Amino acid sequence: MSEPEKKLIFSGIQPSGTFTLGNYIGAIRNWSTYQDDYNCIYCVVDMHAITVRQEPAKLRKNTLEAYALLLASGIDPEKSLLFIQSHVRTHAELSWILNCTTQFGELSRMTQFKDKSARYSGDVNAGLFTYPVLMAADILAYNADFVPVGADQKQHLELARNVAQRFNQRYSETFTIPEPLITKVGARVMSLQDPTKKMSKSDDNPNACILVLDDRDTIIRKFKRAVTDSDAEVCYREGKDGINNLMTIYSSVTGKSYDDITSEFSGKGYGDFKIAVGEAVADSLKPLQDEFSRLIGDKAYLKECYTKGAEAAERYSQRILKKVQRKVGFVEKG
Ligand code: TRP
Repeated sequence: MSEPEKKLIFSGIQPSGTFTLGNYIGAIRNWSTYQDDYNCIYCVVDMHAITVRQEPAKLRKNTLEAYALLLASGIDPEKSLLFIQSHVRTHAELSWILNCTTQFGELSRMTQFKDKSARYSGDVNAGLFTYPVLMAADILAYNADFVPVGADQKQHLELARNVAQRFNQRYSETFTIPEPLITKVGARVMSLQDPTKKMSKSDDNPNACILVLDDRDTIIRKFKRAVTDSDAEVCYREGKDGINNLMTIYSSVTGKSYDDITSEFSGKGYGDFKIAVGEAVADSLKPLQDEFSRLIGDKAYLKECYTKGAEAAERYSQRILKKVQRKVGFVEKG
């Protein structure tokens, strides 16, 4: 994390139970691959999680599991900073200052706020509203150059850029303006039961979603039940959403091209294809699952990692925060 010529990546993930295959293929799997070319900072955003009601014991468990899964996915704590958001006070401190450079109007336009305030109408708390400001603080506290984000977070990143620009204009050049990092494999994994919808763990139908910790039999069973179409050709074509989704998944776990996949299954039925996808996914998740089981059983090691990660993140971000505090006119503490 200390090679100055490299650009800096920051990303965060919510500890909302185990990750889906979509989270894994679309995001987390890529995070470890950035480590050679970039300095990387990743965190489990437990402070974002409490913007919706959480069961405390469950949040604690989910946070540790998310941390262990990130480690298991290949994020190397010797190369990257990996920590838990609430362990680094800079995020809350910077967030307050940035709240004062963010407009009520721009937060009101956030589509995720509109969606969530409708969904959790019994608890539209101020944190839910200022959620994007905390996310801006996460990113700007490290002067990150790039932020890998999915489509659902683009608007929040745009807000972070606007807030940074406004701060820089008001108080002089301080923050790096972060850019979205668009991944090469833009694999978007869809629901196995309704392939026009994104795969989501909050889906009512458990067969719609593969969780990265699902066992082999469960994975294969869910793929066997995947919704397809009524012709019988394994090929990527408009209108074949179910098969397209299975092809995307199969291609991204095996590295095979769509053409290869089509010839591999020519003359075979969807049944064979679905089993092959299930097996390939189970095989590709096996090392992650094994490493996760090992790590989650080693609480002392996890603690050592997240403690060191938080210490280093705090050192790094407090330097930037000090500068911000000076610029806004706070008296320097002796
Ligand atoms: N809001 C993001 C999500 O729900 C998580 C997140 C928090 C994040 N802080 C971040 C992502 C900073 C990127 C950068 O997915």
